[in-house]
Amino acid sequence: MLILSLQNVSKDYLSDGQRIPALSNLSLDVKRGEFVALVGRSGCGKSTLLNLAGAMDFPTAGQVLVDGVSTSSLEDAGLTRLRREKVGFIFQSFQLLHTLTVFENVELPLLLAGKPNAREAARERLAWVELDDLGHRYPHQLSGGQMQRVAIARALIHSPSILLADEPTGNLDTTTGNVILELLRRLTRQQNTATIMATHSVEAAALADMVVQLRDGKIEGITRR
Ligand SMILES: Nc1ncnc2c1ncn2[C@@H]1O[C@H](COP(=O)(O)OP(=O)(O)OP(=O)(O)O)[C@@H](O)[C@H]1O
Ligand SMILES: [Mg+2]
Repeated sequence: MLILSLQNVSKDYLSDGQRIPALSNLSLDVKRGEFVALVGRSGCGKSTLLNLAGAMDFPTAGQVLVDGVSTSSLEDAGLTRLRREKVGFIFQSFQLLHTLTVFENVELPLLLAGKPNAREAARERLAWVELDDLGHRYPHQLSGGQMQRVAIARALIHSPSILLADEPTGNLDTTTGNVILELLRRLTRQQNTATIMATHSVEAAALADMVVQLRDGKIEGITRR
């Protein structure tokens, strides 16, 4: 079942009246449970593709379908729901809130959505990332790898269909990065989400089911395992 489909997608940015093409006529299909690595040199369009997949931005031409629905067709309420419930984001810099505990960071998206049983859900997600005992700590009391695990727990709190990761191991040493990658791969399978990860890391790409090589906003090649 296709959870994400980019169909002849182009994306231009406008900067000082200049048109900057970031993606051009790109098509890509991703199924649930697939772990996809986006690779290619700086500026090739990896982050742009992730932003379009998460409906944080929209294509200039073509369509981005999330679970069969074109992101360009949604009104504000539908977009908020899609971003909140279908998509989870993980960043290089973790982006935890430093005045909140681990539990509170993980619960926050549920609380904002007015959902019940947030603590219970947070406990479960923290068990998935093997941080059962650290719920009461603050981010500054964690290692980088632990912070990224908290961020993963938070991204999974709504049980999203798509997990988008922009350089998730970029701030971690190789060993810690590999732990995070193994965890992402395991959770992708267990939760049957689709994970799409932008990365410069060869190790990261080696773990993926599909490696999408971008160059100048186009797909240069796809390797499947
Ligand atoms: N908001 C923006 N306004 C104008 N141009 C942009 C904007 N965001 C990205 N670009 C341009 O679009 C192209 C693709 O950028 P993108 O950030 O997607 O690359 P990337 O592959 O993620 O690079 P990196 O590996 O450095 O993170 C680049 O030429 C970039 O300069
Ligand atoms: Mg980027």
